[in-house]
Amino acid sequence: MAKHILITGGAGFIGSHVVRHFVNQHPDYQITNLDKLTYAGNLENLIDVENHPNYQFIKGDINDDRFILKLFEEHQFDGVIHLAAESHVDRSIASPNEFVLTNVLGTVNLLNAARHIWHENYTGKLFYHVSTDEVYGSLGDEGYFTEETCYDPHSPYSASKASSDHFVRAYHDTFGLPMVISNCSNNYGSFQFPEKLIPLFINNIRNNKSLPVYGKGENVRDWLWVVDHARAIDVIYHKGKIGETYNVGGNNEWKNIDLVKVMCKVMDRKLGRRQGESEKLITFVKDRAGHDQRYAIDSTKLQEELGWKPSVDFEQGLDKTVDWYLQNQEWLDNVTSGEYQKYYRQQYEDR
Ligand code: NAD
Ligand code: DAU
Repeated sequence: MAKHILITGGAGFIGSHVVRHFVNQHPDYQITNLDKLTYAGNLENLIDVENHPNYQFIKGDINDDRFILKLFEEHQFDGVIHLAAESHVDRSIASPNEFVLTNVLGTVNLLNAARHIWHENYTGKLFYHVSTDEVYGSLGDEGYFTEETCYDPHSPYSASKASSDHFVRAYHDTFGLPMVISNCSNNYGSFQFPEKLIPLFINNIRNNKSLPVYGKGENVRDWLWVVDHARAIDVIYHKGKIGETYNVGGNNEWKNIDLVKVMCKVMDRKLGRRQGESEKLITFVKDRAGHDQRYAIDSTKLQEELGWKPSVDFEQGLDKTVDWYLQNQEWLDNVTSGEYQKYYRQQYEDR
């Protein structure tokens, strides 16, 4: 059945992949992308779909409740895939309030608007909230996050995402709002803003700048190719059970320092540098406050109940990703000019 879906945050990293996926895979759907275009939102990420007849972009702020209500009244969306958020942990340590505003209040504004237009007939409607594995806190050497793991967020970012998850579930339990939530591990791939580990270090290696590894580099993350996350969102949107949560992960754990060394090797090869050259850029710096030790997702439920699995292994995914950044150096140069320089100085100069 044809649907009109609102995707929030569609000009960001994951959002742009989700928009591209839905526009291309569901030509009978109307896709509306709502994005405020913060520092992390960039319409250059969507040049290949911007003229598709089933796509439209609307610039707007999810924190503006009256605007959001009007938007829903005008467009009568059948579904919402909500990705808009402040997403970087280090920025949440520097300025927590923006995270409460956008991630908590912005989500509640969307829930109110969805409830307002859908409350007489919830059939065929869905509010899909895209969340993170960071809500579950930090693991020791053993074990995995499952959908039953208790919430234990540590950073202002993860606390704000945990709060938004609770509101989405509360609107289901209290008002019957049809919803699903997915909690995903670390994504990597094209169009990721170079404040996050992988694109930041690719950019620094290409510019021969130091690679600031927090602490001893022993923290562990579970990396998933962003295109596989977009595929998972499609599967969960269409086959997920109302009211349920699905964990999404790549079963691909890496200690930061080991990942950085692999990236250095790949970059040396691609840039025609002597092997070992880029590793010399590694610099251990002051640790992130409240740094979670290890994330690892158990995605058995998604794999067994809904039939999703990752399409690439990490070696292929990293190779494609490095190639993309090297072939799109203009994109990197554009996003790292201006405000980025100020952010970089504030974030790294005293470490
Ligand atoms: P991102 O920072 O790259 O993009 C966020 C987008 O939201 C940007 O386009 C920005 O302009 C937009 N936005 C921010 N505030 C807004 C507002 N008030 N109104 C409208 N638009 C606004 O983030 P991302 O990494 O693509 O993450 C997207 C979502 O996925 C987030 O909800 C994040 O919590 C979640 N997530 C991210 C990861 C990851 O590894 N990056 C993993 C799991 C879950
Ligand atoms: O797990 C999902 C989460 O992954 C998402 O919800 C977040 O939106 C996303 O930003 C990401 O959070 P992380 O904090 O894990 O990602 P980040 O790329 O910032 O850092 C990855 C690891 O690398 C982490 O252990 C911190 C470390 N790091 C990061 C930066 C930016 C460094 O050592 N040096 C750095 O300069």
